[in-house]
Amino acid sequence: MCGIVGYVGGQSAQDVVVAGLRRLEYRGYDSAGVAVPADGGLASAKKAGKLVNLEKELKDRPLPAGNTGLGHTRWATHGGPTDANAHPHLDNAGRVAVVHNGIIENFAVLREELTGRGHHLASETDTEVVAHLLAEAYSSAGELAEAMRQVCRRLEGAFTLVAVHADEPGTVVGARRNSPLVVGVGDGEMFLASDVAAFIAHTRSAIELGQDQVVELRRDGATVTGFDGHPAGTRAYHVDWDASAAEKGGYASFMLKEIADQPKAVADTLLGRIGASGALRLDEVRIPPHELRDVDKVVVVACGTAFHAGMIAKYAIEHITRLPCETELASEFRYRDPILDGRTLVVAISQSGETMDTLMALRHAREQGARVLAICNTNGSTIPRESDAVLYTHAGPEVAVASTKAFLTQLVACYLVALYLGQVRGTKWGDEIRTVVHQLSDIPRQVEAVLGTMEPVRELARTLADRDTVLFVGRHVGYPVALEGALKLKELAYMHAEGFAAGELKHGPIALVDEGLPVVVIVPSPRGRSVLHDKIVSNIQEIRARGARTVVIAEEGDEAVVPYADHLVRIPAVPTLLQPLVATVPLQVFACELATARGNEVDQPRNLAKSVTVE
Ligand code: AGP
Repeated sequence: MCGIVGYVGGQSAQDVVVAGLRRLEYRGYDSAGVAVPADGGLASAKKAGKLVNLEKELKDRPLPAGNTGLGHTRWATHGGPTDANAHPHLDNAGRVAVVHNGIIENFAVLREELTGRGHHLASETDTEVVAHLLAEAYSSAGELAEAMRQVCRRLEGAFTLVAVHADEPGTVVGARRNSPLVVGVGDGEMFLASDVAAFIAHTRSAIELGQDQVVELRRDGATVTGFDGHPAGTRAYHVDWDASAAEKGGYASFMLKEIADQPKAVADTLLGRIGASGALRLDEVRIPPHELRDVDKVVVVACGTAFHAGMIAKYAIEHITRLPCETELASEFRYRDPILDGRTLVVAISQSGETMDTLMALRHAREQGARVLAICNTNGSTIPRESDAVLYTHAGPEVAVASTKAFLTQLVACYLVALYLGQVRGTKWGDEIRTVVHQLSDIPRQVEAVLGTMEPVRELARTLADRDTVLFVGRHVGYPVALEGALKLKELAYMHAEGFAAGELKHGPIALVDEGLPVVVIVPSPRGRSVLHDKIVSNIQEIRARGARTVVIAEEGDEAVVPYADHLVRIPAVPTLLQPLVATVPLQVFACELATARGNEVDQPRNLAKSVTVE
């Protein structure tokens, strides 16, 4: 998720663009850059690190004056956060500049074509191929909008593109597919941006762009077509958000925005994972397949929510690869003198990539000769840098301290790692792997469906705001989901919440159950391991007989639970291993709403930090 700004008008393009990037910095802060057509050419500047680095660069070396330009603040997906990988990217002649948000799935093939035609690509990014393709297309099309349409017809994946050309100093061209881009309509000036936060200081008149559309901006207006060149309809609207709300996409908190972002985050994490041959590929694997075939044990290390993802990874890895898999709290791992050697694969899961407990665990594992694979959401952070291989989740920046979209994308990444190990070790055939990937590709739609039915969950949460405690129980992959639901409630509502394996209730915790105690039960599918389903229905009966107020999360069509559910929350029927991807969402919404009802600040809960960089 990156921040993009385009401008054409009477003001200094550099000033307007940089100010707009400041409003979009929450969308990405690995690097930033600007480009301005000037004096018959293109002037540009870009720097790794936060926007302030670019501002220092521009203070020392301002771009030539210009009234047209574009800018970008990056959240790295392909290629680490370096000056070379920063946007904008230019063609070899320096005549066209482009910025991009999204993932171009077929960039590897396009890159090979371009180098075969003599282009020199200076970065590791997928974006740079667009700059070179635009330069080629422009030489025949003769105008930037048509060049953009031709290039967009060749791209696969999700992308927002904005470009300028030295030969058209009064024009900015944008395009979008499955990634946001909005037009700001000013008085004698026009804006393009990832979201309205970038330009509502100048205008609140906006135009929403549709799927597969190209927009050509000039000072006096915008022309919108499809990728096929035919005129396209658009929707004009008035922005009534304030700047702060605009950064949150109109949501009251970043957490609510990030919960709503989950379908896209899951879809983006799946993009580009299947190569041309139909085989799975990870982002950066420096562990040779033969070494992965020699692995005889997997150990997952992580903290907090990432640890709960690791618990679910254990079920997936053991089921798919038949390798023994342990999941360990990173803070405990190295102090228990774990048994590790060159045939151990350690999987380190971390959203921030800077969690010291997890970093110290992987350092210990490497000292013992184990190979380390990172699952991380922050490109270029310490944990992937110190690992032998990495699979990046593409959740985009997660601003709220309570992890939501990062968790769901960690689960997706864990499934992909399990499938990749199965592929390399030959325990799964290609068609079996593609079947699971196909099931995963339907999850964004399923999560969207869950998000659309959450009003009863919000109402329930508000009625429980004055309670002292809530219990969560689950079985199999539902057990880590119960732990995650309890953690969300602890860290947001500051109330006692505890998760248990449902089978453990009779070994002690059931003594906690008294009249009216809310107990959330995550029910496994009756279609899969139905023995688990029958046992958890018995558990619900046991706690209800002792006065519990049961909040039952069960899949569509599961009628066995109805008589025992004081509150029934329906989730879509998905394969057993994938249920956490849909069952977790109601728990996130529940915790956020209950905390809000208590008057808590959900984005920055007390005593917590987004990244715990101390042991
Ligand atoms: C969960 O909502 C918290 N934000 C916390 O438990 C977090 O998951 C944990 O600190 C691990 O962080 P990481 O994924 O950045 O390593």
